[in-house]
Amino acid sequence: MNVNKVVRQHLEMEQFFSGFTPKGKDRASEPQEQEDNMAVAEKTVELEKIAEQVRQCRKCDLGSLRTNAVPGEGNSNARIMFVGEAPGADEDAQGRPFVGRAGQLLNKIIEACGLKRSDVFIGNILKCRPPENRDPRAEEIISCLPFLQRQIEIIDPEIIVALGAHAAKTLLNTTKSIGQLRGQFHEYYAGIGRPPTKLMATYHTAYLLRNYSPENRRRVWEDMKKVLAELGLPVPQ
Ligand code: URA
Repeated sequence: MNVNKVVRQHLEMEQFFSGFTPKGKDRASEPQEQEDNMAVAEKTVELEKIAEQVRQCRKCDLGSLRTNAVPGEGNSNARIMFVGEAPGADEDAQGRPFVGRAGQLLNKIIEACGLKRSDVFIGNILKCRPPENRDPRAEEIISCLPFLQRQIEIIDPEIIVALGAHAAKTLLNTTKSIGQLRGQFHEYYAGIGRPPTKLMATYHTAYLLRNYSPENRRRVWEDMKKVLAELGLPVPQ
């Protein structure tokens, strides 16, 4: 099954019937009107509406198993959006993304980039914790992905950083391995009428913790340096 296609069709139908029209972006050619998409305050309001829908969601079985849904958090106007796989135990307990060990490592990476956590937005493919942290199932992704797709449309980041195989494969609609995908920019297609968003795939911080070799750390750092360079931000050496 082509999960992304199914979700995309679902979302486009939903947008068609709800009147929600994603706006195009052209930050480079219209600097004076860089917010020709939504004003930041409006983005924040729209993101909170999605967060509330996530908290109410019972579209799949995970909804009845969670302690807290984890809609995602961060800067409504972020230039970088990190996307992980699914909440773990700590995230489920707190209702916030990446707050456990993997999250602490992500915080360090963000800080090493010269950024603050509040500069970026952090979300996940699934908004509820799968039992025993098992892999997300196709039907769970189909139910949940529209939330993330709408968050991406609203935030309209310049770069998405997909953390790990599940995020990268889902957003790029590919079966390639994270080893093949990482280290280069790909294009995330947000739907009809919208230009693609650049996507960098890299290792998930949980993988990095389990395989904390100098080589893997260097790879993630190289990937993040490419992101900073692409955004015209200072690249620490
Ligand atoms: N791992 C994820 O993929 N997401 C989180 O929010 C935490 C850990």
